[in-house]
Amino acid sequence: MTTSRRHFLRETAVALTMLPSLRSPRVLAQLARPGNALRFPPEWSGEQLTVSRTHAAVWPGSTTEVLAINGSVPGPTIRVRRGEEFAARIQNQLDQPLVLHWHGLLAPERMDGHPRDQVGAGQSYDVRFPVRQRAATCWYHSHTDHLTAEQAYRGVAGLFLIEDPAESALGLPTGDHDIPLVLTDKRVNAQRQWAYAPSMMDQMSGYIGDVMLVNGTPDAWLSVDRGLYRFRLLNGSNARICKVGFVDSRPFWVAATDGGLLPAPAEVRSLMLAPGQRIEVLVDFSNSEVGTSLLLVSLPFATGGGMMGGSAQGLAIDLIRFYVDSPTTGTAQVPAVLAPIEALSETQARRTRVFTLAMSGMVHTINGRLFDMERVEFTVPFGDVEIWEYRNTGTEPHPMHAHGGLGQVLTRSATAVLPAEDRGWKDTVLVNPGETVRVLMRFDAHPGLFVHHCHNLEHEDSGMMQNFEVLGPPALAIEREDGGVTVSWPVSSEGWRLESSTEAVGSPWAPVAEVPLAVRQRWTVRIAEPTGPRFYRLAKG
Ligand code: C2O
Ligand code: CU
Ligand code: CU
Repeated sequence: MTTSRRHFLRETAVALTMLPSLRSPRVLAQLARPGNALRFPPEWSGEQLTVSRTHAAVWPGSTTEVLAINGSVPGPTIRVRRGEEFAARIQNQLDQPLVLHWHGLLAPERMDGHPRDQVGAGQSYDVRFPVRQRAATCWYHSHTDHLTAEQAYRGVAGLFLIEDPAESALGLPTGDHDIPLVLTDKRVNAQRQWAYAPSMMDQMSGYIGDVMLVNGTPDAWLSVDRGLYRFRLLNGSNARICKVGFVDSRPFWVAATDGGLLPAPAEVRSLMLAPGQRIEVLVDFSNSEVGTSLLLVSLPFATGGGMMGGSAQGLAIDLIRFYVDSPTTGTAQVPAVLAPIEALSETQARRTRVFTLAMSGMVHTINGRLFDMERVEFTVPFGDVEIWEYRNTGTEPHPMHAHGGLGQVLTRSATAVLPAEDRGWKDTVLVNPGETVRVLMRFDAHPGLFVHHCHNLEHEDSGMMQNFEVLGPPALAIEREDGGVTVSWPVSSEGWRLESSTEAVGSPWAPVAEVPLAVRQRWTVRIAEPTGPRFYRLAKG
C-alpha cells in the first residue's frame, strides 16, 4: 500500500466517525445525496487469497450472495513493484473447482491460471513468480473450466496493479486522486440477488446486466475537488462493452491502456472499453464549479451487428456521478509526455496467423472449432513477432485476449486512424462485427501452454478459446575439447543469436563474434576460450 493511499483511508475513516457531530452544509448535502459513496476494495497484504461463498451488503439494508475473495467483492487490490516477486496461497473454499488467472501479467505457464490447473472444492495451491513487466493496471479473476463466467460474475475478480519508478517519477495524480473504477453489470432480482441464469440468447450475446456497479457500489458517487484525477478503469463485466464518456462530452486524456502508459496522453471525448480491458484516464475538473456534479456514463452505440437485436449491448447506462465539492489541493497537470514504448513494426513480423471468428449454431468458434482442453492448436516460436489477424464474420463483437504475451494493434479495417484505446501494449482487443483487426504479437516472457480466447465470458465458457504453445529457445549442444568449445543448435530454428557470459546469472551476456556455419543441419560455432570456460545461451536477435 502506498503511504498516500493508507493516509487517505485513515482520513476517510476519521471523517466517517466524526460525521454525526459535523453540521457543515457540505456534509449535510453529502448525507442527502442519492445513491452510495464509491467504495474501494481493500489493499491486499499477506499471503492468502481465499475464495468463499458469503454475503455482502451491496445495497444498504440487504445482503447479496456473492463469491468473495478474502471476504470482499471486488477482491482485494494486489499491488506489486516491478522486480518484486508475487507469491500467494489460493484457497478454494467453494463447493466447485477454481483457478485464478493474472490477467495482463506475464506469468510462467503453470502459474498463469490455465483451466487445466484448476483445483477441486476445498483445495488450495501456491503461486509464485517474479513480476518483471512495466507499470500497468492489470487484474485477476476466475478461469475455471466452464465456470469462469459465473464465478467472475459473482465476484471472483480484483485489481492487480504493477508500479515502477519510471511511472512514479511522472508526477501523475496519487493517493486520493488515483481512483480505481471497476465496472461490472448485474441483473438484480426483487430480493436484491445477482441472478445468473443465461438463456440461449444470453449464451449467444453474453450476459448483460441492467444495474451497473462501480467497485461493487450501486448508484455510485464520488466527492472530488477541482483538480486533476487519474481514474483506472477496468471493464470487469461478463459481456457489456462500455462507451465511456461524460454527459457534457468534455475532453479527457487516455494515459495508459492494458499494458501500461502510452508515450503521451491522448485526448478523447469517449472511448470503447470491452470486457477484460483496462484504461487509465486523466480527468480535469478545474472547469467545473464547486457545487456542481458531473455524470460519467456508458454512451449508447451501435454494435455493428444485425441479428441480436434483443441484446442490451450498446444501450446507455450511468457509471458514476462526481460531485465537485471543493477547490483543488493538488498541483498535478496533464504531462506532455508519459513513458516511451518499444514500437513493434510490421516488417519485424515473421508470419501471419488468421483467426476467423464465426457463429456456428448457438455458439461462437475460432477457425471453425470449439475449445478442447487436450488439443494444442498451434505453436509460437519464443520471441518472434507475429501478426494475429482476427476476422469477425459474425454479428457479435468479440474482445479477443491472449495470455502469455502482449501485442500492439496494427490495423483495424473499420478505420484508418486507430482510436486512443488501441494504442500502447494490449492484451485484449475488441473485434467488432464485420471487422478485421491485425495485432503485432510477441511472446517472449515464458515458454509453455497458454490460451487465447474471447473475453465475453459466456463466449469463452461455451468454447471460444484455443490452446497454443510458446516454444522455448532450442536446446544448445555444447562439446568441450582442448582449447575450445563447439556450440550447436538446429538450423530449423530461425533468428537466434548466440550469447556468452562468464557467469550463468548476474553478469552481462554478450553476442558471440564467431559466425555460425551450417554443419549437418545444425548451426555450429567453434569458440576458443582463452580465459576459461564460459556460459552460452540463445537470444532472439
Ligand atoms: Cu481475463 Cu483468460 O482472461
Ligand atoms: Cu488473461
Ligand atoms: Cu465473443
